[in-house]
Amino acid sequence: MKTRSFDIYLSRTWLLSLFATVAMAVCAQETKRVFIYSPDERAGLHIAQFTADSWQEIGQLCSSDYGTWGAEKRMYHPSVARANDGTWRLVFQVNDRAPLFAAAYSRDLVTWRPQDYPVMTTPQCLKPVIFANDNGTFDIYYQTKGGDKRWVSASNDFRRFSRDEKSQIDKDAWTRDTATIDGRLQEGCLFEISAQELNTVTNHFERMREDARLSSERMFEDAKNPLMPKQAVSAKLTVTNQEKAISDKLIGIFFEDISYAADGGLYAELVQNRDFEYSAKDRREWKATTAWHSARPIEISTEHPLSQQNPHYALLTQDTLWNEGWDGINIEAGKKYDFSMYVQAGGQKQVFLIQLMGADGTVLASSKLKTDANDWQQYATVLNAKKGDTKARLAIIPQKAARVGVDMISLFPQETFMHRKNGLRKDLAETIAAMKPKFVRFPGGCMSHGQGIENIYHWNHTVGPLQDRKPDFNIWGYHQTRGLGFFEYFQFCEDIGAEPLPVLAAGVPCQNSNANADGIGGQQGGIPMDQMPAYIQELLDMIEWANGDPATSKWAKMRAEAGHPAPFNLKYIGIGNEDIIGTVFEERYEMICKAIRQKYPDIKICGTVGPFHTPSADYIEGWDFTKKHPDLQYMVDEHYYESTGWFMHHRDYYDNYDRSMPKVYLGEYAASTPARRPNVETALAEALYLTDVERNGDVVEMTSYAPMLCNDAHHNWDPDMIYFSNTEVRPTPAYYVQRLFSVYGGDRYVNAQLTMNTAQLDAQWKHRIGASLVRDSKTGHRYLKLVNALPVELKLTVNGLTIPEGSKTEEFCGQPEDQTIEVKNGVVEKGALKLPPYSFRVITL
Ligand code: AHR
Repeated sequence: MKTRSFDIYLSRTWLLSLFATVAMAVCAQETKRVFIYSPDERAGLHIAQFTADSWQEIGQLCSSDYGTWGAEKRMYHPSVARANDGTWRLVFQVNDRAPLFAAAYSRDLVTWRPQDYPVMTTPQCLKPVIFANDNGTFDIYYQTKGGDKRWVSASNDFRRFSRDEKSQIDKDAWTRDTATIDGRLQEGCLFEISAQELNTVTNHFERMREDARLSSERMFEDAKNPLMPKQAVSAKLTVTNQEKAISDKLIGIFFEDISYAADGGLYAELVQNRDFEYSAKDRREWKATTAWHSARPIEISTEHPLSQQNPHYALLTQDTLWNEGWDGINIEAGKKYDFSMYVQAGGQKQVFLIQLMGADGTVLASSKLKTDANDWQQYATVLNAKKGDTKARLAIIPQKAARVGVDMISLFPQETFMHRKNGLRKDLAETIAAMKPKFVRFPGGCMSHGQGIENIYHWNHTVGPLQDRKPDFNIWGYHQTRGLGFFEYFQFCEDIGAEPLPVLAAGVPCQNSNANADGIGGQQGGIPMDQMPAYIQELLDMIEWANGDPATSKWAKMRAEAGHPAPFNLKYIGIGNEDIIGTVFEERYEMICKAIRQKYPDIKICGTVGPFHTPSADYIEGWDFTKKHPDLQYMVDEHYYESTGWFMHHRDYYDNYDRSMPKVYLGEYAASTPARRPNVETALAEALYLTDVERNGDVVEMTSYAPMLCNDAHHNWDPDMIYFSNTEVRPTPAYYVQRLFSVYGGDRYVNAQLTMNTAQLDAQWKHRIGASLVRDSKTGHRYLKLVNALPVELKLTVNGLTIPEGSKTEEFCGQPEDQTIEVKNGVVEKGALKLPPYSFRVITL
C-alpha cells in the first residue's frame, strides 16, 4: 500500500511538475504583438496589444519630462529599439528648436529611467530613429531643418553618446509601422514580446487603476457611503513594552520663498522694491520704479551706484516719493518704526520729511532727516506712529529743490521677532516658533535650484551688507531682495532651537526651466563640467562660513563681522531638489558629495529622489543610485503631494524600507482635496499618515509639510500650512497637526497596536483610525496620539498602558470640509476613552 501510494504521489507530482514546466515553456514561447506609439505630442508613450483582430490600447508607459510645463513636455516621433539583452531604448524629438533629443532606458517597458537629453552640434534634432546593433550599442539617426541626416552612436547603458556626424542613410530608415487604434491610424513601432512580458505591463496598469480607486476615497463623501458605520464603533489599543529608537527630529519646517513668503512675508521689511532693482526679469511689467509713485516720472540712474550689485537708484528733486509697501503698509498706533535710506547728495544739503500716511491722507507718523553727504551715506530716523492704518504709505518729502540720489529705502517695525535688526515679522515668526520645529530647510525647493543655470541660488550672494547682496528674480514670478539671506536663516534657526538644513543646487537647475540662449531647456545640461570645481568650492565655503574659525577662515570672519562669531554648528546640507535623476544630475551630484565627504566627513548630506513617490522614474533611479552609493549621503529627500485617499491607503509606505540604507527626509508633502485648502479631512489624513511615520521613525529622519507660508494676495501654490495678510496670520488645520506632532514628539517609539472590533466595523475601514505612542527619553513623558477619521465616535479600550484620569490632552474635531478649527486643551475623564467623529487627540502621560 505504502509503495503504491508513494507511486501515486510520485506520479502525481511528476505529472503536475511536467504540466507546470510545459505550461511555463508554452507561456514563455507564446508571443504577443504590441505596438508602441504616441497618440498625441502631449500624451507621451503608449502601448497597445493585438487581441483577436484589432489593436487595444493598454496605457501610457512614460511621458516627456523635457523643459517647461505648458510650452514643452512634448514627445514627437518616438522611436523604440530592443537591445539584444531584451532591454528597451527610446528616443524622441522634444521640439523643433533644441539641439538635442530625449533618450530613455527601460528593462521592462514599465519603468523608464529618467530621460537624458544628449546635446548635438546641430541647432535641432528632428525625428530621431534608433536601431540596436549586435554588439549592444545603438545607432541613432536624425534630421535637421535643412534636410541633413545625422548619425550618433549610443553606448549600451545609454548614458554616453558620440559626437554627431553626417550620415548617408537611406530615407527608408524613417519608415514607421502603423496600427489603427481607437479608429485612428497611428505610426509607431511594432514588437513581439512574450506573454510574460505583456503580463508585467498589464499587471502594472491594473495596480495603477486599483491605486487610483483607493486614492479617490474622500471623507467628505462618507455620508453618502452605505458601507460607512452609522453608530459608534470600538477598537482595542494594545501596548507592549517593546520600544525602538526613533528620530528626535521628525517634524521640522520647509521655508521656501514662494507666494511672497520672504519679501512681503516673513522678512519684516515694509518697503517694496527698496533697492529699485525690480525689472522685467522678475515680472514682465515690472521696472525699477514699481511700487514707487511720484507726481512726475521718477528718474532712475545707474551712474556711480551705491553698490555694483544694486546698480539702480532714484534721483529725487522736489517731488514727494511714495512707496505703496506690500499691498499697503500696516501701521499700528503706538508702535515705532525704523526708517533708513542711503543718500548721495554731492555735497548739497537737503532736509527730508519722512511720513507714514494713512489711506485718507492722515499723517500717522512724521520725522525729519537732514542729509549733507557728498558720497553715498546711510541716514536713519525713528517714526512713532500716533495713529494706525492697515493701508498706509511711506512718503519721502524733499524740503527744498536739490537733486540727490536715494537707494535702499527701508522701513522696519522695531518689534521684529526677538527684536533682531533686519529681522522677521513677529507674528509670523512666533507662529512658526510655536511649532517647535526641530529643523528648518531653506531657502526653497524650486527656488533653490532656480529657473535655469543663471538663476541657481548662490548662498554667497545673500550675505554681507544689504546693499552688496545680489538680488535676483524668483522662479515663482517675483523678486528676491536677499535681505532674508543665509545669515538671517541661520540666526532664525538658532533663535527657535532648530537645526539648519540649507539646500543648494546639485549643479543643475530646475528640470522645468526655460530654454537658454542655445535653445537648451530643462536642466540645461547642468553647470558645465569645467565650472563645477568653482561651484563645489562655493558649497564648501558655505560650510566654512557656517562652522569655521574667524581667526583662520575668511568666510567665518565674514560671519563674525555680521554679528555671529560663534559657529552656527551646521550639521546637515541638502544637495538638489526634485531633480531629474539623469546622467547630468548623477555625475554632478556624485562630484559634490565626494568633495563634501572628503573635506567635512561629519556633515550629513541629504540627496534627492525626485518629485514623486514610487513608482516614479526619478524615485526609482534616485534610490538605485543611493543604494549603489550608500556612503555618499546620510539621507534622501522624498516629495509627494497627494489626495487624502492616497495618504490613508499608503500608511505602510515606509514599513519595508531597508534599515541599513540611508535614511529618508520626507521634505515636501501635503494631502489635498479639490478645494485645495487644508481642512479637517486633509489634516486627519496627514495625522493618520504621521502616526505611521512615527512608527517608522527609525528610517524616516525628518519630515516637513510644504509649502509653509502663503500671502493671501499672492498665491503661487495651494494648499499651504499658514496663510497670512499684512494684518493677520491664519494657521490652518495642517499647521495644528504639525504643531501637535512636533511639540509632542519623542525619541522612542513604543509598540502600540490598534485592533478594530470587526463585528461593528468592516476591517476595510482600518485605515481610518490611527494611534502612536512615543516617549521622550529626556523628560520621561510619553505622548499618545489618537486619530479617528470615521464619521462616528470611536471607543477605545486600552491594554498594557495606564492612562490616568486628569492626564492633559490637546484635541480638535470638526467636519471634513472645515477649514478652521479650534484646538482645545483638556484632561482625560473618567470612563472609556471616546474619540469624537473626525478628531485628533494627543494625551500626555
Ligand atoms: O513646495 C512647492 C514646490 O513644490 C517646491 O518648490 C518644489 O520643490 C515642489 O515642486
